[in-house]
Amino acid sequence: MKELPLGRKPAAFPPYLFKELDRRREEEVKKGRDVISLAIGDPDIPTPAPITEFAAKAVKKASNHQYPYGRGSAEFRSAVAAWHKERHGIKLDPDTEILALIGSKEGLAHLPFALIDRGDSVIIPDPGYPAYKTGVLLSGGRVERLPLLEKDGFLPDFGRLSKKTLSRAKMLFLNYPNNPTGASAGLDFYKEAVRFCRKNDLWLAQDAAYSEVYFGKPSPSVLQAPGAKDVAVEFYSLSKTYCMTGWRMAWLAGNARAVQALTKLKENLDSGQFNAVQETGIFCLRNHARLSEPIRRAFQARMVFFTAALKAAGWKVFVPETTFFVWARPPKGGRSIDAVYRMLSEASVLATPGSGFGPFGEGYLRFSLCAPDARIKEAARRIGKIVW
Ligand SMILES: Cc1ncc(COP(=O)(O)O)c(C=O)c1O
Repeated sequence: MKELPLGRKPAAFPPYLFKELDRRREEEVKKGRDVISLAIGDPDIPTPAPITEFAAKAVKKASNHQYPYGRGSAEFRSAVAAWHKERHGIKLDPDTEILALIGSKEGLAHLPFALIDRGDSVIIPDPGYPAYKTGVLLSGGRVERLPLLEKDGFLPDFGRLSKKTLSRAKMLFLNYPNNPTGASAGLDFYKEAVRFCRKNDLWLAQDAAYSEVYFGKPSPSVLQAPGAKDVAVEFYSLSKTYCMTGWRMAWLAGNARAVQALTKLKENLDSGQFNAVQETGIFCLRNHARLSEPIRRAFQARMVFFTAALKAAGWKVFVPETTFFVWARPPKGGRSIDAVYRMLSEASVLATPGSGFGPFGEGYLRFSLCAPDARIKEAARRIGKIVW
């Protein structure tokens, strides 16, 4: 029998960036090299013990063993609403304005299916997290890139979008605190973004996966901006806040119609997250300060020594006040991918090429400080020895 044909859609997608880098890393490891990977944004710090201890009990409860509520239990959604009230001073209706997600990545990629029609454009930040583009393309939409430039502190200049682009666009993705640049946005920026989206009839989807990884003032929410709920939704995740990337728990908050549209889509696609994980999420949110603060401090300490070492080695470094990412240019410039492979072969250190996040990331590298302190120090030492 001839091999059956596969659909064209999956073939049109490049291998997921981080999978390809991981393959390269494995190749080096097989050669016997001691590779330090600072490529993936996946915290090495284990989930704090109080969380795993709570979860162990929740897993044993028979009442948690059946299908969960797809949109999140009433208790989970209420805990989310209470957390936003305390953290941002905003009021959200748990019944209509909050939806539980199985990690924010699936929500980000599914949202365009709920909000746009085939052929509509969606504006995405460039450089940006790859799931925005994937979701837009899979749902039949078109991607318009909004550059994030160093001279603007990696905040977008909405004035760069042409009338033609705006007439076709239905939706805008933003992501602050930002991956990959580490840039932060203040409330004034969110006010401007909300005004812009209201004026141009655009849905605004703001990805706040790194909202709790801040080193100075707590990051604001786009939902604090006046009129935000008319156009905006915001994605939150337990992944980075509590070092829980493997647990897959996140939520969407904001405009009730958009939240309901994604709820309806997801009710047809999945059956929600394991109730024991949702209960653990409630535990995290109710104990937020004591659980998240040590994690912030650990990343901040890494940020201080790694950015100093990189600067001393002649790199141009954008020192962030949020996230665990360092966005930097190598001493002699050049293409991102060349510098990544050079570091891998000469120093056995793996970083992510900025170009993997979009054309405007070209020339930069992203270092993710998700390895034990000693390994990050060793990586910095090895990088410092490269003669560019
Ligand atoms: C900007 C951004 N958004 C969303 C996610 C997805 O996080 P999760 O699906 O674990 O909630 C990531 C993960 O790295 C990210 O970097």
